[in-house]
Amino acid sequence: MKALVLAGGSGTRLRPITHTSAKQLVPVANKPVLFYGLEAIADAGIHELGLVVGDTQAEIESAVGDGSAFGLQVTYLRQEAPLGLAHGVLIARDYLGDDDFVMYLGDNFIVGGIDGIVRKFARERPAAQIMLTRVGDPRQFGVAELDPRGRVVSLEEKPVRPKSDLALVGVYLFSPAVHEAVSELKPSWRGELEITDAIQWLIEAGLPVESSVISGYWKDTGNVTDMLEVNRLVLEALEPRVSGSVDAASELVGRVVVEPGAVVERSRVVGPAIIGAGARIQDGYVGPFTSIGSGCVVVNAEIEYSIVLPRASIRGVGRIERSLIGHDVEVTPAAGAPRAHRLVLGDHSKVQIRS
Ligand code: DAU
Repeated sequence: MKALVLAGGSGTRLRPITHTSAKQLVPVANKPVLFYGLEAIADAGIHELGLVVGDTQAEIESAVGDGSAFGLQVTYLRQEAPLGLAHGVLIARDYLGDDDFVMYLGDNFIVGGIDGIVRKFARERPAAQIMLTRVGDPRQFGVAELDPRGRVVSLEEKPVRPKSDLALVGVYLFSPAVHEAVSELKPSWRGELEITDAIQWLIEAGLPVESSVISGYWKDTGNVTDMLEVNRLVLEALEPRVSGSVDAASELVGRVVVEPGAVVERSRVVGPAIIGAGARIQDGYVGPFTSIGSGCVVVNAEIEYSIVLPRASIRGVGRIERSLIGHDVEVTPAAGAPRAHRLVLGDHSKVQIRS
């Protein structure tokens, strides 16, 4: 069995972060969200992986390399434009050959890995196996309609009037039968080759399509709110560790990781939180559910429930909350701004806010 991971696309919902960076590389507890998927695939015993990439290929390639760090052999498959998930399968046709494969969306985050569903698929070998989960607003997802016996009757991508609250999770298992379905597809109303249409084609061809409803934790990290939630969840399981330096005037409360070379001076860090390698926290406060990237500077400032990408600096400002701050951003004080701040800052941004 092979894996096909989709890490192209344009990431419009995470703009401006994704103007300059791949959304799959936004870090969760200081590790790119994509890496959690790669680890889950390797843990399921799959070692050959095709990675579909687009405009951000160079950045993804420099992060993932040849995959050996994950125990994977990675082949990069260039998609000229984000023409849909099924288009990703189309361009991977030669790479996949006649192997079964798991398709994994590079911005999805699944707790508990995929070992169980991969084994179920290998045992039963349907044409396709999908995972579903109940969501509050199904209109943002692919939605499945099941018959009373739990079989998939129909699938619809981002429906205006969803037939159920069962959303497709971004992990699919396919036998090579999917290639014929994909080759028959026409672009949808949004101009994409939809994987939901390919699965619908398999159903209509009378081929077995299995589904399982998962109740475990799953998030599509396509927007900031979900990204911060995933970060919170991963930090919840943090093992405390201090490899950097913390002075006597500082206090670490709860589960805090201070990476090598990080310096905490006259500050309070309330976990769960992670302070990345080489970061400096001085006269500051870092609150729960916060990931401070490597080389960041937080001086005379307060931040919590946030993700800060590498080398950003935050100086002399009041409390920042629920924020995603891109790499190399500078946040500095300015007079006369309102007291509450909520920030979504692109890489290299410079903002001035009240101290
Ligand atoms: O997250 C689950 C949802 O993922 C499913 O419920 C939907 O049925 C499915 O279509 C998908 O919806 P999204 O709108 O979230 O897909 P998105 O455009 O964010 O793409 C998902 C991943 O695939 C992301 O890592 C980018 C990558 N991608 C996407 C497209 C359209 C590609 O590599 N190539 C593409 O052409």
